Amino acid sequence: MSLETMFNVTGKSVVVTGAAYGLGRAYAEIMAQQGAQVTLIDVNADQLAKTVAEITDRFGKVHGIVCDVTDRAGMDAAFDEIAAHQGGIDVVFANAGVDAGPGFLTPEGRRNPEGEIDNLDDAHWDKVIGVNLTSIYYTMKLGARHMKRQGRGGSIIATSSIAAFYADGIVGTPYMPAKAGVSHLVRQLAMELGRYKIRVNAICPGPFITNIAGGRMANVEDRQAFIRWSCLGRVAETDEIKPMALYLASGASDYVTGSQLVIDGGLILRPAQEVD
Ligand SMILES: NC(=O)c1ccc[n+]([C@@H]2O[C@H](COP(=O)([O-])OP(=O)(O)OC[C@H]3O[C@@H](n4cnc5c(N)ncnc54)[C@H](O)[C@@H]3O)[C@@H](O)[C@H]2O)c1
Repeated sequence: MSLETMFNVTGKSVVVTGAAYGLGRAYAEIMAQQGAQVTLIDVNADQLAKTVAEITDRFGKVHGIVCDVTDRAGMDAAFDEIAAHQGGIDVVFANAGVDAGPGFLTPEGRRNPEGEIDNLDDAHWDKVIGVNLTSIYYTMKLGARHMKRQGRGGSIIATSSIAAFYADGIVGTPYMPAKAGVSHLVRQLAMELGRYKIRVNAICPGPFITNIAGGRMANVEDRQAFIRWSCLGRVAETDEIKPMALYLASGASDYVTGSQLVIDGGLILRPAQEVD
């Protein structure tokens, strides 16, 4: 089989949530570039319109739907609309996510009372779990529902994080169980949906320069800690996620399901942070 055939996604119907910026935008770009039909969902209407126009200019026509992933009726309607316009749904990137605020350690390893458990704002906990875990569940549920109905299989890809696998004091506490939950949900659904030829996998990034945390990673000083911990001595550019996205969306990964594909410059291999 040629490489082109292996990685072919031409004509596939793809949905990406949280696609106005960052990793979601990169997923949408590579899918559009490779000839898929792509709809981008995002809550940020202005940025979504800009991104849709830019991708359409560079890679061919894509569509945008403004929707908050926590709005279940809105997501139901969006998936129905996409299925009607794109002839079903083959690939879902359940990606939208938010930062979790400060951790209990600063990047320099000092204690940060604001991020300690007894000071956590419960509304903030609810928001992070709501967007980063519950909405991923709901997006995957809609993908599975459409794919089962169609009976032609599919690929569901959740953006988890290396945060799923260890404890990290500089990341806000609610983010960690949310991502662990996403990674475990992927395993659970892979087991359930395999009989319908629906594959379910997680992409687990380390530090990428995106808009998350107010674009913190774009700030040279803020990213020093991550550069220190990375075996490759750097953080990643957004485009570097694209090959993994294409791999999981295409037939190249036809026997891959329930996997956690880590892309982190080896950051996860570093010894645990010192905690005072
Ligand atoms: N950037 C990293 O270093 C990194 C590392 C590991 C995991 N991740 C994960 O990658 C995913 C994408 O994050 P990113 O880094 O590209 O961030 P980003 O802020 O650049 O992009 C996230 C997008 O999601 C959208 N969004 C946020 N809340 C939404 C909602 N309720 N409904 C619809 N859209 C919403 C935002 O408007 C934005 O366009 C997230 O799940 C994040 O946790 C990022």
